[in-house]
Amino acid sequence: MKKLLIMLTPAAMLALAAPFAVAQDSQTPAPATVDAAKGLSEWDKIHAVFSHPRCADCHVADDRPRWSGAHYGGTRVHAFNVQRGNDGSGFGNPGLRCTTCHFSSNSNALHGPPGAENWRLAPAEMAWFGKSSAEICAQIKDPVRNGGRSLDDIALHVRDDRLVAWGWAPGLNREPAPGSAEATFQAIENWMAVGSPCPVP
Ligand code: HEC
Ligand code: HEC
Repeated sequence: MKKLLIMLTPAAMLALAAPFAVAQDSQTPAPATVDAAKGLSEWDKIHAVFSHPRCADCHVADDRPRWSGAHYGGTRVHAFNVQRGNDGSGFGNPGLRCTTCHFSSNSNALHGPPGAENWRLAPAEMAWFGKSSAEICAQIKDPVRNGGRSLDDIALHVRDDRLVAWGWAPGLNREPAPGSAEATFQAIENWMAVGSPCPVP
C-alpha cells in the first residue's frame, strides 16, 4: 500500500485519502465545506456593493477618481484635473489635495463635494473600477494586494470604516450602494463560512 501511494501524484493521493479517512474513522479534521452555489450567491451580494459606483469610483487602477451616475450626467473622470498625487498617497497633488474640497461630512448643496474623514483614493492595487467580478474576487482574497488583510479583516473594514460607510450615505441625489454595511459584513461572513468561492474568470 505504502509503495503504491509513493508512486501516485499528490492529487491522486488526495483523492485516495478522503475515502480512507472515512473508513478508518481517523482524527483528521473534516475539510472545510465548499458550497459553491451558496458561496457564489453570497459573493454576488458582495460584488453588487464593491462594483457599485459609490465604492468603485474611489477604487481605480489609474490616477483619476471617477464620477458616475445620472447625477453626474454619466461616467467620467473627476473634474478639475484631480489626480492620485505624485507621492502615490491617494490624497492628491500638493495644492490640490482631496481635502481642499472634501471635508469630514457631505456638503448640503446639490453638486457640492461629498465628505468623510481622510477622503482619498484607494491604493491602485485595490482596483475595482472596470474590473470583472472574478477579478475583484481575486483581489479581495490576495493579501499582497489588499493591505495584508485576512477575509475577517476585510469584513470588519466594510462594517467599520468611515469611507466605506459613506457609500451608503453619499449625500444629495447620489444613489447609495445596495443594502447596508451590516448586511455586507454578514454576506462576507456567510461567504467565508462556505469556503469563499470566486466566480470562474
Ligand atoms: C473616498 C474614497 C473611498 C470610497 C468612497 C470607498 N473606499 Fe474603500 N478604500 C479607500 C481607501 C483609501 C482604502 C485603503 C485603506 C487602507 O488600506 O487602510 C480602501 C480600502 C478598502 C478595502 C480594503 C482592502 C481592499 O482589498 O480593497 C475594502 C474592503 C474597501 N475599501 C471597501 C469599500 C466599499 C465596500 C466601499 C463602498 C461601500 C468603499 N470601499 C468606498 C477609499 C475609498
Ligand atoms: C477642486 C475641488 C475638488 C478636489 C480637489 C477633489 N474633489 Fe472630489 N469632488 C468634488 C466635487 C464638487 C464633487 C461632487 C460633484 C457633483 O456632485 O457633481 C466631488 C465628488 C467626488 C467623488 C464622488 C463620486 C461618486 O462616486 O459619487 C469622489 C469619489 C471624489 N470626489 C474623489 C476625490 C478624490 C479621491 C480626490 C483627491 C485625489 C478629490 N475628489 C479631490 C470636488 C473636488
